[in-house]
Amino acid sequence: MRAVVFHETGSIDGLHVEEFAEPVAGTGDVVIRVRATSINGFDPMIVAGSTGLKTPLPMIPCGDFAGDIVAFGPDTEPAGWSIGDRVCPHPFVLGEGMTGETRLGAACELVRIPISNLIRIPDAVSYVQAASLPIAYGTAHRLVHTRGKIRSGERVLILGATGGVGTACVQMLSSLGCEVIATGSADWKLDKLRELGAQHTIDTSKQDFVSTIHEKFGKPRMMGGGGVDVVVNYIGGDTWAQSLRCLAPHGRMITCGASAGYAPPTDIRFIWTMEQTILGSNGWGASDQQAVLEQVATGSLEPVIHAVRPLEQVAASIAELADRNVVGKIVITP
Ligand SMILES: NC(=O)c1ccc[n+]([C@@H]2O[C@H](COP(=O)([O-])OP(=O)(O)OC[C@H]3O[C@@H](n4cnc5c(N)ncnc54)[C@H](OP(=O)(O)O)[C@@H]3O)[C@@H](O)[C@H]2O)c1
Repeated sequence: MRAVVFHETGSIDGLHVEEFAEPVAGTGDVVIRVRATSINGFDPMIVAGSTGLKTPLPMIPCGDFAGDIVAFGPDTEPAGWSIGDRVCPHPFVLGEGMTGETRLGAACELVRIPISNLIRIPDAVSYVQAASLPIAYGTAHRLVHTRGKIRSGERVLILGATGGVGTACVQMLSSLGCEVIATGSADWKLDKLRELGAQHTIDTSKQDFVSTIHEKFGKPRMMGGGGVDVVVNYIGGDTWAQSLRCLAPHGRMITCGASAGYAPPTDIRFIWTMEQTILGSNGWGASDQQAVLEQVATGSLEPVIHAVRPLEQVAASIAELADRNVVGKIVITP
């Protein structure tokens, strides 16, 4: 089959379309013909080899995928599934890890996956829409609802809101009735964030987000408000300690990643004096993925698609994401 492959970690230049052995379904598995896959923030990190995860080599990138069942493994109980069914599997496999991280990715024509990972695509949802959802929208759904328990009326600052998880958070929080402040690193990106429902935007290429929050909403004071109720921060690095200065008393900061560094300095004084809460949110469940597929089917959610491209453009698309020139998701149709 045709696949996008890298033989060693390091440079995006090492990614090429080449012939690769087709996957073989074991007992309990199916093989999916990939109709669409998409690129996520972890793809540049996996290609660079900077995550600390054990990525097998040679490796195929991309974790999300949507397609059709084309084969069942030997003695696999069909469990109500048939050849040709349209599916968007949950890409995390028990004992193997995440598709595109520690197991072969989906930037190719065929993927093997356990039948227990299958999730049906509603008729009204296209392969392109479905493939944009699991990692970005599934993660955002868990972060906003399950872990963050973010409520209508809360003021929420989203850092790096232009990415896949970030645009999903902007959409979910504005439809929940939150006051959304979204950051991005270019004017054209901020225009898009306002279209998606952000009431306030901060251009981090020109503005300091901490002083902008203090100017707009007041400096947080234990006895007198100010700041924001929640910071969504999967950027880490220098933004971590700075974010603590934006949180209102009893505010919470929620993270699911660390695009700019996972071991940043912090400032514990703000955590105790303002009685702040730091929350982690990791991945998402099948119910989160089903919920966002259903929302797209009913028209209450429209995934933000930056571009739809062929397999040959995976390397250029990963480079574009790493260069921070994307808003939302790049979807690949093999
Ligand atoms: N734990 C989990 O299960 C899970 C699941 C999904 C994602 N994640 C993590 O969540 C984060 C976001 O994922 P994503 O797929 O949405 O990524 P993405 O599409 O690349 O978006 C991240 C955004 O952050 C900003 N950014 C990127 N690199 C940065 C840097 N070095 N310093 C400051 N800002 C930077 C960029 O916006 P601007 O240039 O506009 O600021 C970019 O649009 C990643 O760290 C990813 O690994 C974790």
